[in-house]
Amino acid sequence: MLPLSISAAVLVALSATASVAVASDATSSSLLQHRHSFFSTLPVEPSDENLKVSRHQVKVIGLTGFREWEVKGSLHGLFHVVGKTAPGDSHGNDNGKVHVQWFDNKAPLLRPPFTPTYIPGFHLAITSDNFEKTWKENCHIVADLIGSVDCREIEADATTPLERHPNTLRAEDLTAIHKHRYLHKTADPAGFLSSSSVVSSLISQQQAGSTSGPALIDLVLHKGKVSLKVIWTAGSGNNNNKDGEKSQSTVEILFNEKTDKVVEVGWFYREITEQEYSVYDHYLGATVQLDSEGETINEALIQTRSPVFPPHRRDFSTGNIRAYGHGYNSTMTPSQSFHPHSVTTIQSNPNIQETTAGCDLHVLQVLPAGYFVDPFQLEGLAPEIGESTVYGETDLEKPVGVVTGWGSLVMVKAQPEDSIKTSKWTPSNITNIDTKGIKTDSVSYTSVVDIPMHMRYQPPVEEGNPATHVKVEAPWPIVAWVCPTATHGGDESAALNVAAKKLFYIPALPLSLLFPRDEKTDRETVDFRFVLPDPIPKQFPVAKMSVPVGRLDDMNLVRTATFVMAGAGTLAVALALVRTVAGRTSGKGKQD
Ligand SMILES: *[C@@H]1O[C@H](CO)[C@@H](O)[C@H](O)[C@H]1NC(C)=O
Ligand SMILES: *[C@@H]1O[C@H](CO)[C@@H](O)[C@H](O)[C@H]1NC(C)=O
Repeated sequence: MLPLSISAAVLVALSATASVAVASDATSSSLLQHRHSFFSTLPVEPSDENLKVSRHQVKVIGLTGFREWEVKGSLHGLFHVVGKTAPGDSHGNDNGKVHVQWFDNKAPLLRPPFTPTYIPGFHLAITSDNFEKTWKENCHIVADLIGSVDCREIEADATTPLERHPNTLRAEDLTAIHKHRYLHKTADPAGFLSSSSVVSSLISQQQAGSTSGPALIDLVLHKGKVSLKVIWTAGSGNNNNKDGEKSQSTVEILFNEKTDKVVEVGWFYREITEQEYSVYDHYLGATVQLDSEGETINEALIQTRSPVFPPHRRDFSTGNIRAYGHGYNSTMTPSQSFHPHSVTTIQSNPNIQETTAGCDLHVLQVLPAGYFVDPFQLEGLAPEIGESTVYGETDLEKPVGVVTGWGSLVMVKAQPEDSIKTSKWTPSNITNIDTKGIKTDSVSYTSVVDIPMHMRYQPPVEEGNPATHVKVEAPWPIVAWVCPTATHGGDESAALNVAAKKLFYIPALPLSLLFPRDEKTDRETVDFRFVLPDPIPKQFPVAKMSVPVGRLDDMNLVRTATFVMAGAGTLAVALALVRTVAGRTSGKGKQD
């Protein structure tokens, strides 16, 4: 193990590299700065065996864990690398920011230092004081970078609505949240990362050695500069290739004098020191820096508090809890209804001064268009479930096909700090069994957040389709304690926290939009401390609802009528009306 005393020196070295690169960005706008980080899930100290360093080249061999690639530079530089020319530079004085995030719904939950609770699917957020201007100036750039965006403008005097490319993204799809506009899609939008897109070319250049595609893509475009981060899972035992062989993860990283300014490679493994409920993470490892001068190799130690509360520890064979930690589960109940409840049961400890003092517990639900909530109903329920905030489509009259947006966000402040000791947490006596088999009695706290939901009418199924119900999925909510960031003052751990965030942290959309950012540094003013779904699932879990659907054979005659009347009551009522109208029409036909 590396001696702890090197930490300060190495952290200084890491942050110095970052600031040098930023300072010289303007003078070398076509050069890119890369960072490759490898996180071993096993405590494997990087050695000459797995980090082979030669002139302008590093070979990484035998990693089990995650591999992250970050590239930063000007739009011009990024387009240059894939042999394209950046679109005009009209974005000179627009201060708007575009943030695209995509998390593969089949990807395993990531592990710390990353947030394990990214909501699967596609996220687009625009931060701007003048959305129309930012959209106009960046739309074509975003379309070139990722595809999927429809930049055509609707003419003011157009008499017929603009025909949409199905499932592309348009300005009017985004929902206002403070000074942001935001959109979430459960399924990839049409043309996302098509082979002609810049990001897809960049990723394929970095893909070598990975058997599966990226788990996470995070892209930020701000003032003509781009930062792209991609995470792959690497060489895990169950990530076998087609022939059933254990995938051999070898990655070769090259320094290219024509396009690259600096390439940093780091290999980290995690060592946890746990006291009571406080977990301190050490990421130990080595870094290699490649630039035009040559190579520099360093040992590294990053020390930071985990962004994730320790989960329950379970008995390997029985699955029973041996030691209580933190966790939550969530369900939509009943599973077949137009008015289900989203019930989230959280086990956490509100009384840990070290970690929850000054923090509020939040539950954030990201709902596709098939679901909606009634903000007035939630307001009335505030004494029971907590204060809630709703963004997006809440018009209860609209069936799914008519909702222009993507859905809605519901955030419940389930446990404000000032009420922390007073209510809502149900204590129960528990027994923890430590690794030596010694039992200790303790108390576990459970809190339930019950949010009433409503389902929208689904578009009718085609003729001949025997389905009477469709499944409508919604990701489980995110559960997080939200705490003021400790970045000010001379506190050493705060400084380490900032340094670690600079290296590892990818803010999760849409959670990060809901809390203010520091205008000057553009950093979050809060720290999120996540509670994990329990038991820890393979993928981010979804709740499923079964909703009755109409049949097109029933409705074909007067399809438009159903849309008009869908708000009139239940589907049955609408159907009955449709039948009546249809009956009348045919009756009239006979008379004539
Ligand atoms: C959710 O967690 C609570 C508390 O641990 C447990 O009692 C309950 O059975 C769980 N519900 C589901 C649906 O797993
Ligand atoms: C927990 O144990 C204490 C004493 O050991 C007892 O007074 C209390 O009623 C118990 N609580 C529950 C919820 O069982």
